[in-house]
Amino acid sequence: MRKEGPWSGIRTLLSRDFAVKRAVDDISFHIEPGELVGYIGPNGAGKSTSIKMLTGILVPTSGRIEVNGLTPHKQRKEYTRQIGVVFGQKTQLWWDVPVIDSLRLLKDIYKVSDAEFKRNMELFSGLLDLHEFQLTPVRQLSLGQRMRADLAGALIHTPRILFLDEPTIGVDVVAKERLRNFIKEINRERKVTVLLTTHDMRDIEKLCTRMMIIDHGQMIYDGSVEQIREKYGRHRTLVVQFEREIPEFSAPNAECLKSEGGKLWFRFDRLATTPSELIAYISARYPIVDLAVEEPDIEDMVRAIYGGSEARGKEA
Ligand SMILES: Nc1ncnc2c1ncn2[C@@H]1O[C@H](COP(=O)(O)OP(=O)(O)OP(=O)(O)O)[C@@H](O)[C@H]1O
Ligand SMILES: [Mg+2]
Repeated sequence: MRKEGPWSGIRTLLSRDFAVKRAVDDISFHIEPGELVGYIGPNGAGKSTSIKMLTGILVPTSGRIEVNGLTPHKQRKEYTRQIGVVFGQKTQLWWDVPVIDSLRLLKDIYKVSDAEFKRNMELFSGLLDLHEFQLTPVRQLSLGQRMRADLAGALIHTPRILFLDEPTIGVDVVAKERLRNFIKEINRERKVTVLLTTHDMRDIEKLCTRMMIIDHGQMIYDGSVEQIREKYGRHRTLVVQFEREIPEFSAPNAECLKSEGGKLWFRFDRLATTPSELIAYISARYPIVDLAVEEPDIEDMVRAIYGGSEARGKEA
């Protein structure tokens, strides 16, 4: 049973009309305290618009949003103390001043005590190496450093909820890994509820157990990452290298996808056949020198879901 009351998490029923377009249309979801939820969808799906409504920057034309018992755009002052926001595309910090000055300014705005500030700065130094660039003005930071500074800024007042809109955009793989570890840590150790938007499915795989997918302003999936794997991840590809170039052929329950330099790709449904059955069939015909089984990654599965939604959009 779900708990009611001020700490019952994020409760929403969002809908926003634009002059010609509904960016977000009848989305309804509930997030439990301490959850780390991935919020994904193709470009223009309505993710940032939702986050702007959830953070009180935009006002929905109809519907209801409740986070921690508050209505974001109505109780903004009280509300902003409880949330942190990072927009990967745009810094929330002061551009021309050193990072540390921005953080001190936020400390004053949020009335953060000296002890809390110190505790948080130690955490950011330890996990984000903030001390390495805290004297540098934001405009001189690399993208990875800027994102770390923004995360520190979003968390300086120890909020209960963190909204992250593409916090890993444009940063290199090592920096991404570090940002992910940090997000994971503050969710796990500090029990911060996180709503994370990203186009990098590895962020979702590494961090989230639940994901919500929106497209054309509507929710098309809300459930576990595991379920997506079960539903859309049934296909495997057997890649077989033969001794010499051979003509394309299909095997029972396996379709030959392509052929290149004596290598053939067979796509099969793991519920319809097994790799060993396929290999037995294939090796009885031609000598095999090497093989591998490829699993679809979550990126492929999400592409299939986006594709389905695109098709439905056209029908409508
Ligand atoms: N201020 C605005 N005025 C008019 N239309 C807008 C405005 N902001 C967003 N939109 C439109 O609303 C829709 C949703 O945009 P939104 O920025 O929420 O998408 P998104 O899911 O965040 O996409 P992306 O992955 O590209 O960041 C888009 O069609 C966009 O063009
Ligand atoms: Mg966006």
